[in-house]
Amino acid sequence: MISSPLMTVMVDAVRKAARGLKRDFGEVENLQVSRKGPGNFVSAADRKAEAVLREALTKARPGYGLVMEEGGTVEGQDKTHTWHVDPLDGTTNFLHGIPHFCISVGLEREGTIVAAVIYDPIKDELFIAERGKGAYLNNRRLRVSGRQDLADSLVLYGSPYLGRGNHPRLLKELATVMAVTGGVRRFGSAALDLASVACGRADLYWERDLQTWDIAAGLLLVREAGGFATSADNGPDPMAARSVACGNEVLHRELIALLRKANQ
Ligand code: IPD
Ligand code: CA
Ligand code: CA
Repeated sequence: MISSPLMTVMVDAVRKAARGLKRDFGEVENLQVSRKGPGNFVSAADRKAEAVLREALTKARPGYGLVMEEGGTVEGQDKTHTWHVDPLDGTTNFLHGIPHFCISVGLEREGTIVAAVIYDPIKDELFIAERGKGAYLNNRRLRVSGRQDLADSLVLYGSPYLGRGNHPRLLKELATVMAVTGGVRRFGSAALDLASVACGRADLYWERDLQTWDIAAGLLLVREAGGFATSADNGPDPMAARSVACGNEVLHRELIALLRKANQ
């Protein structure tokens, strides 16, 4: 387990925001049947969770900057620290009453992610990591999967929304990966996809067209669990490239080769 003042700040903030989110998720089910659907309600829930996170993080670390999905970028006095905050990752799931979403908070210090919290309030799963101190799920130390054969591997991916990203490219990549792996899944939360690789449930994950708040925390989880994470084009900095490919060393190398092949 990691006990540090920083982790306490992050976990407290995330748990506080999660209480509201979980309550609101209960409401979404009631709104499902209305003609307009729960769209506006969900946007409000998202913004409320972000406000709770922002307030708690700013109170504890007043000078740090923030990059938030809803509120945009807030420059801090302390230029060396930035929070990357996604108050609700898996919005489409949440909107449709599918219980697979989370809050993700990562702290960047001078270009390196140093602390991460991802919390799934429905499963009550708290994923945390601090650079050099390992990654944990509810106090259990995490390790990426040890599988070595693509044929046995379970692979997660993400697909761009309507009007975004490069759909034909994804289809080529998916066809190439699907042909040689044990199974593919699209679960709808980039942060939980990364957390799933960190804890060995999934062997691989790749996605393009992401934002820093989607992946900041999850990247540290994967790396602290002994995994490899690069951009989908094998670049060293997924945060800058806004894409990711990750897994254990052997399978990550194979995934990169498959993605390259798909794009030839
Ligand atoms: C999205 C999810 C999804 C991924 C999208 C993200 P949101 O975040 O992480 O899995 O495919 O690219 O935008 O909108 O639910 O916060
Ligand atoms: Ca979000
Ligand atoms: Ca997101």
